[in-house]
Amino acid sequence: MKLDIKEIDIKNLPSHIVIIMDGNGRWAKKNKLDRISGHRQGMKSVKSIITESRKIGIKYLTLYAFSAQNWNRPRPEVNALMELLQFYLIEEGKTLVEKDIRLNAIGRLNSLPKNAYEVLTETMNLTKNCSGMTLTLALSYGGREEIIDAVKQISNLTNISSSDIDEEFFSKFLYTSDIPDPDLLIRTSGEHRISNLLLWQLAYTEIYFTKTLWPDFRKRHLLKAISNYQSRERRFGLTGEQLKKREIL
Ligand code: FPP
Repeated sequence: MKLDIKEIDIKNLPSHIVIIMDGNGRWAKKNKLDRISGHRQGMKSVKSIITESRKIGIKYLTLYAFSAQNWNRPRPEVNALMELLQFYLIEEGKTLVEKDIRLNAIGRLNSLPKNAYEVLTETMNLTKNCSGMTLTLALSYGGREEIIDAVKQISNLTNISSSDIDEEFFSKFLYTSDIPDPDLLIRTSGEHRISNLLLWQLAYTEIYFTKTLWPDFRKRHLLKAISNYQSRERRFGLTGEQLKKREIL
């Protein structure tokens, strides 16, 4: 079934969508190409999904572009991914401004190669006043690493007692302190894992898995994921009855 934007409820959009863009390698294999060609094709989906998310009215889009563990991939693949990131930022910086998209990044960004880091910070600076959508790239990102980094910062604070520490306090030390927790996580390619992504922030996120490989993922797949999200009841630990009573009040 081909979905149209009219078939989703614009008043009940997920505010924050995060995507694990998986399956570039398998797409390449299926098409008798090398893995790097798979990532290049994946870039087309990246551009398309950013554009569509902005058009639909999604306020926060986060893409898991490179994990802390991805550094262990073969060197040529790591280099190609870093180059793709740079090309994307150089090519698309102006378009992001035109579309009123603010670029944000999370992860151990100082592990990125100097050129990639520089163009990333330049583009974040260029788009800092944009407010239509926040696009967050998770780069050299790991959820456990993020929690460790937060604990390290807290342990360096003086004048702090254990009674000061609650969820709100802790969240301020995460890389995501200025963006809300995701409402919807999409993982492509048929794998059912969260792969060290936003371990703290995904506590109440709805998860949608699709067999579609990332390089094939387009607007209709995004709309299908949103439509599926809209069919769910988010209970946040409450009962369905309690939720109904809250709606009446
Ligand atoms: C997972 O597919 C994908 C990645 C590790 C990289 C994702 C990167 C892109 C889509 C391009 C760069 C993105 C930006 C925003 C610059 P996989 O290689 O693990 O696929 P496989 O499981 O089929 O082998």
